Amino acid sequence: MIRRIVYSSLACETLVVKDVYDIIRQSHNRNSKNGLTGGLLFIDRYFYQLLEGLPTAVEARYQRIAQDPRHTELVVRQDVTTEAPLFASDWMALRDGGQIDPGVLESHGYRLGMPAEEFSGEQILAFLLDCFGKPTSPATSTLAPAASEGNDGNLALTL
Ligand SMILES: Cc1cc2nc3c(=O)[nH]c(=O)nc-3n(C[C@H](O)[C@H](O)[C@H](O)COP(=O)(O)O)c2cc1C
Repeated sequence: MIRRIVYSSLACETLVVKDVYDIIRQSHNRNSKNGLTGGLLFIDRYFYQLLEGLPTAVEARYQRIAQDPRHTELVVRQDVTTEAPLFASDWMALRDGGQIDPGVLESHGYRLGMPAEEFSGEQILAFLLDCFGKPTSPATSTLAPAASEGNDGNLALTL
């Protein structure tokens, strides 16, 4: 059984793209040690992160992330236990908003921050999965590449 948290947050005003690269670089190291996987989308200065793994590991890391001064206004959009990871081959994949097909944004009714009162957890999850080109059905997600096939396949930016 694994736990999956999806949250949104707003980058602090001083955060620059290089800081996002630093976050990802550090996250790869730590997440690989803790068996955590997921995806981080950075769009219009908002973060959307999916973090998954053993419940205790997710809890400990999320508590650290929530206290990180590089972002604010954290809102948990989904917090569930589930059988299969959705990002099994990514210690922490990264997508920048500029890499997302405008058609994907449009199809999800994207708005700045995707306000929690308007977008359900399921909608945010579907949006994230689409942004990362992941299958939206949990059944098909088990067909994703195994961790043994490498762990940077979905890291779109060169670090
Ligand atoms: C948007 C965002 C996402 C982050 N994601 C992760 C992550 O997936 N894994 C991780 O280890 N740290 C992540 N961090 C960094 C953590 O907040 C924290 O700095 C790091 O885990 C170091 O924790 P420590 O105090 O235990 O050394 C993220 C930070 C931000 C701002």
